[in-house]
Amino acid sequence: MSRQPRPETPHLIDPAQPRPARFTDVTVRPARDSDVPAFQQLYAHHVTTTIATFEEVPPAREEMLRRLRAVQSAGLPYLAAELEGEVSGFCYAAPFRARSAYRFLVEDSIYVKPGIEGRGVGRALLTALIDRCTMMGYRQMIAVTGVTAQDTRSTLLHERLGFERVAHLKGVGFKQNQWVDIVMLQRSLGDGDATLPPPPEGFEREFIPLIRPAIL
Ligand SMILES: CC(C)(COP(=O)(O)OP(=O)(O)OC[C@H]1O[C@@H](n2cnc3c(N)ncnc32)[C@H](O)[C@@H]1OP(=O)(O)O)[C@@H](O)C(=O)NCCC(=O)NCCS
Repeated sequence: MSRQPRPETPHLIDPAQPRPARFTDVTVRPARDSDVPAFQQLYAHHVTTTIATFEEVPPAREEMLRRLRAVQSAGLPYLAAELEGEVSGFCYAAPFRARSAYRFLVEDSIYVKPGIEGRGVGRALLTALIDRCTMMGYRQMIAVTGVTAQDTRSTLLHERLGFERVAHLKGVGFKQNQWVDIVMLQRSLGDGDATLPPPPEGFEREFIPLIRPAIL
């Protein structure tokens, strides 16, 4: 049976268009319960209009709150970006897989409010997340992003912040009536795999093995 042709992946960003000015006043801070309505609204946009996330039905506020608390209770960073006092994006780190040997690896997720893309909010959020995860002793960060035209900005953002494309899985998702690929990007944090982690007494981090299924 012939496969439906894959969507083309032209560059969403038109190089002929001048880049909009970057915001100079982005604030990044830990997320709070009161941010959840704004997170829910902007994430719902990405769920329904892009293939960046493979989720297809926007989660309700209660579910977004539950996910926020799951990340926080695992001791992982969940960050909000603010512009002139309004939430303009969020990102968080979560375990990539549940098995304990993955404990030095986190996966990032990042979403910026529609209409202000390309103005530096994503860079500010992801830079802060990388810094925090590095300080916490994590050694690798991975991003998994659906790819078509809309999502080029995500791979660009990650590459600009030191991630390398390490895998391209073809046709693993079906969303918006098309087969969708994913690209995986990886970045070392701190010493990465160049040194062993400090002994447990110098680096105590509780690993919560079931958090990933609980979040996603
Ligand atoms: C991906 C996303 C988080 C990036 O956030 P953003 O605020 O739009 O990104 P930034 O403005 O910080 O730009 C990031 C990079 O994209 C590239 N870029 C963005 N706009 C550009 C433009 N108009 N021209 C050229 N390059 C551009 C640049 O490489 C830039 O890095 P630089 O600032 O070092 O030059 C955001 O666009 C988004 O929410 N996308 C949909 C959801 C998604 O794909 N999430 C990732 C799933 S893990």
